[in-house]
Amino acid sequence: MQHTALNILSDKITALSESQTIAMAKKGRELAAQGFDIINLSFGEPDFQTPQYIKDAAKDAIDDGFTFYTPVPGFPALRQAIADKFKRDNNLDYSPENIVVSTGAKQSIANAVMCLVNPGDEVIIFSPYWVSYEEIVKLAEGIPVPLQGRLENDFKVTPEQLEKAITSNTKVVMYSSPCNPTGSVFDEEELLAIAKVLEKHPQVYIIADEIYEYINFGGKHASMASFDFIKDRVITVNGFSKGYAMTGWRVGYIAAHKDIATACEKMQSQITSGTCSIAQKAAHAALLGGNESALEMRDAYRRRRDLVLDIMQGIPGFKTNVPTGAFYIFPDVSYYFGKSCNGNIISSALDLSLYLLTDAHVALVSGEAFGAPQCIRFSYATSDDKLIEALRRIKESLAKLQ
Ligand SMILES: Cc1ncc(COP(=O)(O)O)c(C=O)c1O
Repeated sequence: MQHTALNILSDKITALSESQTIAMAKKGRELAAQGFDIINLSFGEPDFQTPQYIKDAAKDAIDDGFTFYTPVPGFPALRQAIADKFKRDNNLDYSPENIVVSTGAKQSIANAVMCLVNPGDEVIIFSPYWVSYEEIVKLAEGIPVPLQGRLENDFKVTPEQLEKAITSNTKVVMYSSPCNPTGSVFDEEELLAIAKVLEKHPQVYIIADEIYEYINFGGKHASMASFDFIKDRVITVNGFSKGYAMTGWRVGYIAAHKDIATACEKMQSQITSGTCSIAQKAAHAALLGGNESALEMRDAYRRRRDLVLDIMQGIPGFKTNVPTGAFYIFPDVSYYFGKSCNGNIISSALDLSLYLLTDAHVALVSGEAFGAPQCIRFSYATSDDKLIEALRRIKESLAKLQ
């Protein structure tokens, strides 16, 4: 019998969406291959090289023969260094048994969701949200419940909204702070107000994604796990991709109650085992070297944020918050819906991002994938020259829409 994709693939994979950020980057690359000068602002990754001392540690790992399987939750010295990092940066007490190292924070999140969510459980996701949250919840057969933060409130969900959204079926609340895609950051007071709501619902676990911790232009980073009254229910996700410019190395981690960490280890043991031995050595060196290089990169992002905000003020119809972290800006572009150019009608953010890709040759990601269909995400993790040129072209293309 002839099998086709339609009849052999599982319901799970059929229901899954392709990552929109990756899809847009792919389209941009296709146009670039045809010779167009595409400026890609769709990537969620630093444009900086991994710092040299980290690369050197990886070379040493190879030369020293650190090439065998590693323990599933990470090699002991790395888990200890991560626990030390939590003490140093976040004043949180964890021991290595609370830490599980994974192949990127994406796997850390997937492990945690798979370990906590039963079919039919509701997972409240602060929206706009990172593209993969919803799809990972669907894979676990949970029910994603997006909770919309409003632009007027810096895209932040309020404690009152959260209180109303929690039901007896709610199992997990998840969010990122600093946030991809909005760049908004919960300060300690705001997190405390949210924690107080969660305190009243002991069946609810919290996945706090802090991967952009070091890219924070405001005050001190605040961690949900710092509130003792809910700490045992918080799974803190972090990693090396963003702060240390190590996206390709694929190292992320969680800190969680021992029972949850052990469950995540069990899940990982049947899927990928321990993270790449060489990448773990590089990550270990990154932590031992402190976070100075990360803070230098943060300063560059802050400068670029100011540059982009400044230029965007001169673009009619773009409404934005002032991002205080990460390296994204997420303007509301609904002003352009209903306008057209040469019969090409813009009726959504997706239409607008496709128009800007083909007319301005700038790749962006439309907000549908982030739960905000009126917005478009710009990544400003690229050079000043490219940002200036991209925004010049965008302004010109938008001016053609009537
Ligand atoms: C909010 C958020 N969480 C997690 C990740 C995944 O990071 P990693 O590269 O470590 O898998 C990303 C990457 O874009 C992200 O933006």
